[in-house]
Amino acid sequence: APDGQAPTPPMGWSSWNKFAEHIDDQTIRGIADALVSSGLRDAGYVYVNIDDGWQGRRDAHGVLQPNPRFPDMKALANYVHARGLKLGIYSSPGPRTCAGYEGSYGHVEQDAQTWAAWGIDYLKYDLCSGEGIFRQPQEVRLAYQQMGQALRATGRRIVYSLCQYGRDDVGSWGREVGGHLWRTTGDIEDKYEVMARIGFDRNGNPAHAGPGGWNDPDMLEAGNGGMSEDEYRTHMSLWALSAAPLLLGNDVRDMSARTLALLLNREVIAIDQDALGRQGKALRKAGTTEIWTKPLADGSVAVGLFNRDAQMHEIAFSPAEAGMPDGAAIRDVWRGASIKGSEHTFKVPAHGVVLLRLSRVGSG
Ligand code: GLA
Repeated sequence: APDGQAPTPPMGWSSWNKFAEHIDDQTIRGIADALVSSGLRDAGYVYVNIDDGWQGRRDAHGVLQPNPRFPDMKALANYVHARGLKLGIYSSPGPRTCAGYEGSYGHVEQDAQTWAAWGIDYLKYDLCSGEGIFRQPQEVRLAYQQMGQALRATGRRIVYSLCQYGRDDVGSWGREVGGHLWRTTGDIEDKYEVMARIGFDRNGNPAHAGPGGWNDPDMLEAGNGGMSEDEYRTHMSLWALSAAPLLLGNDVRDMSARTLALLLNREVIAIDQDALGRQGKALRKAGTTEIWTKPLADGSVAVGLFNRDAQMHEIAFSPAEAGMPDGAAIRDVWRGASIKGSEHTFKVPAHGVVLLRLSRVGSG
């Protein structure tokens, strides 16, 4: 049943894409500080998610301990909370996580209680070694359902992220097991081809997405250096049009002004976080170009004109294609400028995008 959490796709930061297992208390505190000082928190990026690599061993009572790099999880949660942020953590339904750390197998209720006592606000639950134990789709589903129940039983509001790489039609049951987001794909990489394959083609069934439950095409790579600025704009635009979770994956303590501007663009974030909660999709594909639309709560429509080719293409587009009147007001979101006229041909750079917001005149 819906619990009122994740009315819009979760936003925040996660440690994995940049740091993998090389994480510690000081790094997480530094990230929390940077989210605040950069303005990213105020733009909506509030979850600070510790991914794989925080775990130590279980004590004599079976209580999971963090490893020595995280001396005091409750103190860390307090630090993060004091800055208006929320703290996320990571585990597996199997005995081992993907990076080989202690998983929650046989300790589901106990671990949920431990995290709640620390003040954890978000759990990513990653199948990994559970694949060898939960062999049937129903068993996988049950394993996710058990943790969902255990989280609810703590009485703490904890956003629940399912990570089993989009198998077994997870979008059709993710909500029923208490999930607020579910991965639709294998892991993203900081490469255009990998990002584009996921963003264009593996971002989940739009029918499954909506307030309280979202398709998760994986965390962001923007700012990690492996793509051009146009490619990162494509990345952000696809995720926003897909109503995808926006979980930053770069080192926000150390980023260029251009990267910050890319992550902080309020109009792009507004498309992602729109209250209607509809996942956009391709309206028209022609060769290497795609036109995507996402209906928004105020009656406007977000439109992405994408060029998947490695050279510039011109894309013709008129508001009527998106069901809008010819005289619709057109905003070029990345340029932050309004466009005049009703017949339009846009020069879209290699691997790039023109992101538009169309509004009925008079409706704002
Ligand atoms: C899997 C997940 C990643 C990350 C790693 C951690 O590969 O898909 O997102 O959490 O495990 O080991």
